[in-house]
Amino acid sequence: MNLFDVYPINEVTIVKAKGSYVWSDKGEQYLDLYGGHAVISIGHTHPHWVKRIEEQLEKIAFYSNSIRIPLQQELAAKLGKLSGKEDYQLFLCNSGAEANENALKLASFHNGRKKIVAFSRSFHGRTSLAVAVTDNKNYSAPVNETDSVIFLPFNDEQALEACFSKHGKEISSVIIEGIQGVGGINVAEESFLKKIRSLCDQYGAVYIADSVQCGYGRTGKFFSHDFAGVNADIYTMAKGMGNGFPVAGLIIAPHIRPKHFQLGTTFGGNHLACAAALAVLEVMEEEKLLGNAVMVGKFLRDELGAIPQLKNLRGRGLMIGFDVPEELKDLKKNLLWNQKIFTGEAKPNVIRLLPSLGLKKKDAEQFIEAIKEEIQLLESTIVQS
Ligand SMILES: Cc1ncc(COP(=O)(O)O)c(C=O)c1O
Repeated sequence: MNLFDVYPINEVTIVKAKGSYVWSDKGEQYLDLYGGHAVISIGHTHPHWVKRIEEQLEKIAFYSNSIRIPLQQELAAKLGKLSGKEDYQLFLCNSGAEANENALKLASFHNGRKKIVAFSRSFHGRTSLAVAVTDNKNYSAPVNETDSVIFLPFNDEQALEACFSKHGKEISSVIIEGIQGVGGINVAEESFLKKIRSLCDQYGAVYIADSVQCGYGRTGKFFSHDFAGVNADIYTMAKGMGNGFPVAGLIIAPHIRPKHFQLGTTFGGNHLACAAALAVLEVMEEEKLLGNAVMVGKFLRDELGAIPQLKNLRGRGLMIGFDVPEELKDLKKNLLWNQKIFTGEAKPNVIRLLPSLGLKKKDAEQFIEAIKEEIQLLESTIVQS
């Protein structure tokens, strides 16, 4: 049987990982500034995370949500404390798309409405509603087409106000990433998030903060939406939550009341997933990783900002993006093959950095040296040709 070929692959096989490093089957060491797409939050194979999972595995890995799972309550308490949303309610599931799917559905259950506002260049996942609010036609099949979604330009307050004055009473929810990831690292303005909050309050709509990529401490605040100083009604989370163990969830404001059977999942919130997610939060707290994300993130942005060839540097904490001019378009590839450094990309010609929140300053320095060297090499080949 062949694999269903939907992923463009880098020809490297990773067999071992530790902290911010991974090793290939040929024994080559790579610096990982991509974090397997923002997933590695506390560092690859962190010893506390490994121990917590191993110990749980010896006890019980899975039972369904038809019984009490005290680890879920423990996780909810820890998450409430670290995120500052102690009065919110936790629903656990398995992926970012599933978290958003549930959030959009829950909003509609809550206010009985159908319309959703989403934004240009958004990415919210691949399942039916999640892909319907994603601004990329290539990911949508005819069966995903719906007239329930209204796309508006990102960070455009006037367009948002006009939309609410026209459709306000029909709008169920507004979904927005605090920093768009797949769309190229575009930061939602604080005033824009405040405007979403006030319009949702005025018209009875639900504000959904997609924190799947930008959340979980990546920006130095637990949720990047928190920079605006207003609360969302629902926050969705996934990637960094399990440090590679598949676990996701949504936290839901107290005024949205649960009803039996409205949401559900077989695997979500299983014992092993909770142990992995608890280990992540324990390490984040113990090693003060949010502070590290701010410090190393600032160092990277200062240094990258001083490289004249790189344009439109943007992001917060350890979620950083910049544009690469067309003549240096091989930069990402060359960083990987010549310098053995993984970075992320967003087309066209955007490099994204989504490393572990424990990234060390010396690793950031190594990257800065490497990128300068590769830019010089590329420029010298342009001059020669
Ligand atoms: C902002 C955002 N939302 C949702 C998703 C979907 O998450 P998953 O791939 O876990 O379904 C992603 C994945 O990249 C994402 O970046």
